[in-house]
Amino acid sequence: MRILTGLQPSGKLHVGNYFGAMEPAVRLQEQGEAFYFIANYHAMTTVRNADELRDYTRELAVDFLACGLDPERSVFFRQSDVPEVNELAWILSSVCPVSMLEKAHSYKDKIAKGIAPNHGLFAYPVLMAADILLYDSNLVPVGKDQKQHLEMTRDLAGKINEAYGEGTLVVPEPMISEGMAVVPGLDGQKMSKSYHNTLPLFGDEKPSKKLIMRIVTDSTPVEDPKPVDGSLILPLFRLFASDDDYAKMVADHKSGGCGYGDFKKRLAEAYWEYFAPMRARRDELIADPGYVEQVLATGAEKARVEATKVIDRVRKAVGLA
Ligand code: ADP
Ligand code: TRP
Repeated sequence: MRILTGLQPSGKLHVGNYFGAMEPAVRLQEQGEAFYFIANYHAMTTVRNADELRDYTRELAVDFLACGLDPERSVFFRQSDVPEVNELAWILSSVCPVSMLEKAHSYKDKIAKGIAPNHGLFAYPVLMAADILLYDSNLVPVGKDQKQHLEMTRDLAGKINEAYGEGTLVVPEPMISEGMAVVPGLDGQKMSKSYHNTLPLFGDEKPSKKLIMRIVTDSTPVEDPKPVDGSLILPLFRLFASDDDYAKMVADHKSGGCGYGDFKKRLAEAYWEYFAPMRARRDELIADPGYVEQVLATGAEKARVEATKVIDRVRKAVGLA
């Protein structure tokens, strides 16, 4: 079974990205042949500075490896190192109704936010379909927000197969992490870089802990019990703490006698401890950029072997070869 997913290098990674995307991807490596890539073509729809795109790409590579992506087991590559994806995107474009793209939520949301629509943003789902179909992927783990893009991918594969013969493209199965609770941001909305409410995955110690200490809480006096429902501290603490520490934190909320400052300190400590091994691994990787480049180069080579097989098959099927 081939598992494939991509992450955009469009900013610093945060704790929501870790629990929503990276940690599940790392776990899934056990279950099949994983192809994980850095979606740098996709990031071009929002990142407009070459150095920034390069930096985010390198950082994402380092961070994903630090979080446990195992390059011996999985194929890890940069999207743009396999340019065949653009050819497949064109072939898919030719069977893709404009009306399908006009219905895309992510596109409509961006327009609603006042982002000027460019063709890349409009065609984004077609390139994403090409990412998936170019590797005969069977399973695509993504967050809920990507569900519609996967439906489009299945639709486009179906249209190609209908026009050019069954088996031209493999129709993938989505794996939507519905059960995965959305990680709340420091203001209680969904944690997202667009809301400026993130806790960085790998930030510096003082500023990161400061962000936690600034979480807004109610004005319950120290000696009184604190509300458990609607707490922002508890769901975050749950992610980092042991069962015992979490139970104690809940009990201390209910009994009163501990202040929010104390709770936040415990949260800050737990957060810092949780990522300590990954931070150490990350420091090693940063000190060895040659290794990271080598991983991506090897990944690109392996990915390209698979991509070539599929694109050759498709070129024949559609009459380009
Ligand atoms: P952002 O919302 O910060 O722009 P992205 O949309 O780039 O993040 O998301 C990258 C991945 O991280 C996606 O798989 C998404 O589902 C996951 N993700 C992002 N924010 C969260 C969150 N708060 N909780 C759980 N998963 C998240
Ligand atoms: N659109 C995805 C996101 O924003 C990233 C992505 C690009 C992707 N191509 C993909 C995810 C292919 C899965 C499969 O999160």
